[in-house]
Amino acid sequence: MSLAKWIDDRDPPEQMSRPIRKIAVNTGGGDAPGLNAVLRAIALGAAERGIEVWGIRHGYRGLLEGGGEGLMRLDRRAVRGIMHVGGTILGTANRGDPFHYPVERDGKLIPEDRADELIERFHEHGFDALIAIGGDGSLRIANALAERGLPLIVGVPKTIDNDVYGTEITFGFDTAVSIATEAIDRLHTTAEAHERVMVVELMGRNAGWIALRAGIAGGGDVILIPEVPFSYEPIVEKIREREARGRRFSIVVVAEGATLRGGDVTIRDEGDAFRRVVVLGGVAERVAKELGERTGKETRSIVLGHLQRGGGPTTFDRLLALRFGAAAVRYLVEGCSSGMVALRNHSIDLVPLAEVAGRTKTVDLACDTVITAREMGICFGDEPSGRFACSPVVASSSDDA
Ligand code: F6P
Repeated sequence: MSLAKWIDDRDPPEQMSRPIRKIAVNTGGGDAPGLNAVLRAIALGAAERGIEVWGIRHGYRGLLEGGGEGLMRLDRRAVRGIMHVGGTILGTANRGDPFHYPVERDGKLIPEDRADELIERFHEHGFDALIAIGGDGSLRIANALAERGLPLIVGVPKTIDNDVYGTEITFGFDTAVSIATEAIDRLHTTAEAHERVMVVELMGRNAGWIALRAGIAGGGDVILIPEVPFSYEPIVEKIREREARGRRFSIVVVAEGATLRGGDVTIRDEGDAFRRVVVLGGVAERVAKELGERTGKETRSIVLGHLQRGGGPTTFDRLLALRFGAAAVRYLVEGCSSGMVALRNHSIDLVPLAEVAGRTKTVDLACDTVITAREMGICFGDEPSGRFACSPVVASSSDDA
């Protein structure tokens, strides 16, 4: 639904009854380039309307235990010169879920539900609305807070993984793809010089967006993504076929969430009672070792890791972040209903939070980017190279993100 339609359809007497005077904003989960640009657009959009904005430091921690230090006034001065800077001036948290908040009891940290307390503090500070900038986990928490009674929340989808449901793209993704593409470009020369197989592991959790995009743009020979469980035979065949053509090196791009057919994801950290998701990592090393044994070639693995998240945003991400931030304030002021801002058909839209919460967006294997890759002979580890696993002449979706 478009913003204009949403505003037209709203129930005026109820929804316009609470003017917005004071907004809280937080950034939660892994950082993504563009967070500061969102904060700047929120602060300026609010200032133009005479609305006060306060940032909660480190997810929800600043509201639950920060005292006076936990909140930061986001006025014009506070957001000067931050648009192009990576990270977040508010700080973020991976273990700050108010429904499973770490609390010390008898010298031990245990998870406790502090959502009611959080909502109480929110009212004590006189906030009218919350803008929650986060990925799938943070947006799920935002929806749960809305269900618990926090009156107005607008979510802003953020993640380099691009896996938030309901938006075609998240800010941070374009930057991550650009960095990963450059890294793959750089691997080519050293791979060729040593006639090696280089296996590069990219982030993305259980979605293959970064690996797919950077893999194609960077000229990867093999791309392994979570959406396509792989076998080693087609990869070995691809490497041999390249050898036969005199290309004595190969680049394998593997998403951290890729799995061997019938196998499981490779885990770096099991998570805990406060961060209840596993942290992925290590698949490149496994793949490199196996390919070395099977092909007899020298192999090396590298994990690009947090380089994909660090530093400033690309122009695309900067603009998207500014558009999301400005729309979040506009939406609160004019729409006065909870939801998530999203990019759909090139414009900013609104999506109900409940529609987004608990869902992720993965790569559609019939999209034109995947078809493009297959037509170029890139191996996904599921079919001998040169043959297509899916053969639609026309892509089922115009693009993948
Ligand atoms: O969600 C963003 C992300 O960078 C994922 O791609 C990755 O799996 C995860 O965060 C890494 O988390 P951490 O920063 O805690 O290592």
